[in-house]
Amino acid sequence: MEQLMQENRIFNPPSDFVKNAAVPGMDAYNALCAEAAKDYEGFWARLARENLYWKKPFTKVLDETNPPFYKWFEDGLTNASYNCLDRNLENGNAQKTAIIFEADDGKVTNVTYSDLHARVCQFANALRKMGIKSGDRVIIYMSMSIEGVVAMQACARIGATHSVVFGGFSAKSLQERIVDVGAIAVITADEQMRGGKALPLKVIVDEALALGDCEKVKNVIVYKRTGGNIAMTAGRDSWMHEVVAGEAKTCEPEWVSAEHPLFVLYTSGSTGKPKGVQHSTGGYLLWAILTMKWTFDIKPSDVFWCTADIGWVTGHSYITYGPLAVGCTEIVFEGVPTYPNAGRFWDTIQKHKATIFYTAPTAIRSLIKAASVDESVHPKKYDLSSLRLLGSVGEPINPEAWMWYYENIGSSRCPIADTFWQTETGGHMISPLPGATPMVPGSCTLPLPGIMAAIVDEAGHDVPNGSGGILVVKRPWPSMIRTIWGDNDRFVKAYFPEELGGTLYLAGDGAIRNKDTGYFTITGRIDDVLNVSGHRMGTMEIESCLVANPLVAEAAVVGRPDDMTGEAICAFVVLKGGRPTGDDAKKLAMELRNWVGKEIGPIAKPKDVRFGDNLPKTRSGKIMRRLLRVIAKGEEVTQDTSTLENPAILEQLKQAL
Ligand code: PRX
Repeated sequence: MEQLMQENRIFNPPSDFVKNAAVPGMDAYNALCAEAAKDYEGFWARLARENLYWKKPFTKVLDETNPPFYKWFEDGLTNASYNCLDRNLENGNAQKTAIIFEADDGKVTNVTYSDLHARVCQFANALRKMGIKSGDRVIIYMSMSIEGVVAMQACARIGATHSVVFGGFSAKSLQERIVDVGAIAVITADEQMRGGKALPLKVIVDEALALGDCEKVKNVIVYKRTGGNIAMTAGRDSWMHEVVAGEAKTCEPEWVSAEHPLFVLYTSGSTGKPKGVQHSTGGYLLWAILTMKWTFDIKPSDVFWCTADIGWVTGHSYITYGPLAVGCTEIVFEGVPTYPNAGRFWDTIQKHKATIFYTAPTAIRSLIKAASVDESVHPKKYDLSSLRLLGSVGEPINPEAWMWYYENIGSSRCPIADTFWQTETGGHMISPLPGATPMVPGSCTLPLPGIMAAIVDEAGHDVPNGSGGILVVKRPWPSMIRTIWGDNDRFVKAYFPEELGGTLYLAGDGAIRNKDTGYFTITGRIDDVLNVSGHRMGTMEIESCLVANPLVAEAAVVGRPDDMTGEAICAFVVLKGGRPTGDDAKKLAMELRNWVGKEIGPIAKPKDVRFGDNLPKTRSGKIMRRLLRVIAKGEEVTQDTSTLENPAILEQLKQAL
């Protein structure tokens, strides 16, 4: 994202906010950091005892005997669903609204904690009846719904490890995840509603299972969302409403070790296929709870709204687990920000009197644009006075977008938590705490207490503030990734590389700390991972997909800055039949975009496809992606090209479609 605006102003937390905050002021923040520095294990042990229900208390806090396979609270027994639901029934929240479901068409359904508990128990009982038990893996391929949350919680209740696949992924991507995780059941819906349109889900599950290697899948359970026409395979498929009918509304949870894998969530890496990020139960849930308290300053009266999808980690930590575990009322939103118009977010905040709003910079940027061309969807047309706190996640927020968010949505009175974190970290890592940290637009400020974030050089040595480097975390923390599902070696290599000494957690991002304040600013990925609209995409994954097309001889994929989506995917392609031009090129570019959409999912479609007779290569045949990045940006190549075998190719590739 191009930084058109430099914003060095400091925005202090409003004093009335500080007064009532969970972490009231920098002294309180520093005290927590000091506690962690003084007695790291004691700090986490205290928090784990105070914040989680333990059926059997843990006796050991951190097991570091086999690094980097760290274990937290391992001999403690707990259950995530019990912590999220039963505790609320005991704490007097039974009749409190847990979820306000806002459907695509604006229809609202409220569910109390008591209702939600009953529905989760019934579904958990039904899953058990199908023979699904602790340690089994279940794929969830659903859109935003109460039933999606119920499905995740029901798996957690019986100790089954869920793996949610975003409803926009293709049959092939779904099948790869079903196979990799070894799922024995799939929970889905007939269709999903998005922006007034019904889109398929069950049909894609059928296609995925037909692709092969899915023999382990014995049950497909279908939530009826639209009543659309779908096929049901006898003996394998069942309706969610039918399997829960008659089931008891209570269900004894499976008491699992804190290290029991709660979920596996696939995310893109710089090489190979997406990796199944494995998270624990105890450490993960502890951090979801603590960040709800610290970063979101959650209060019993809050109406919390995280606009993410349950298919991403943000939806796991800040829809399914965190908000329920702290007993708040949350909005679960099925729709899209632009339907029926680009005022939908503001209308929904007004309608449900949301107090905390958490979204992605891409959404903010597109709504800024919409409001600038259509006054009727400008936030000033809505009553947003219920808001007290804003959040941002998924990608760097540029200072312009930050200022607009602050002034127009937060009326210059709501702090903004710019939360830096990752699928692998389970919860926020670096973020202002709203009642403590003075904010600087574009900076995620300081690590949360207990998170030993640092910036190092390529040999793993600390760099001084003011010099950029590689973002790492120096000590294990409870909610960190445990391994890559089924691939311990890849886990070690990807996150604890030898070059950095083997003990530092490598986030994969570059960062710089301000000379005076020590504030962190994330400068972007240092690997071949792109961030498009807050979604992570591996360039290698898209390249392999392109070369799998029968027309394609070679392909290289790079990112280029995009005002709206942060980064855009740009593909340079060599066709087997020679370089197309004019209308042919346009037609083929479209064909390849659709191919990627069908093979991976629409989010992976390249924005640009450019054809060449060849790609810029060194004499040893290595594609020079560095030069392709410059061309993709539309800039002049000023770098040394003397090692190029075919410098003339650069001119050709510059010609955009
Ligand atoms: O590059 C960073 C960027 O998103 C990556 C993590 O993506 P994912 O695992 O899909 O999780 C997204 C939701 C947590 C990071 O490596 N990123 C995330 N949040 C920020 C960010 N970059 C800058 N600022 C942020 N607040």
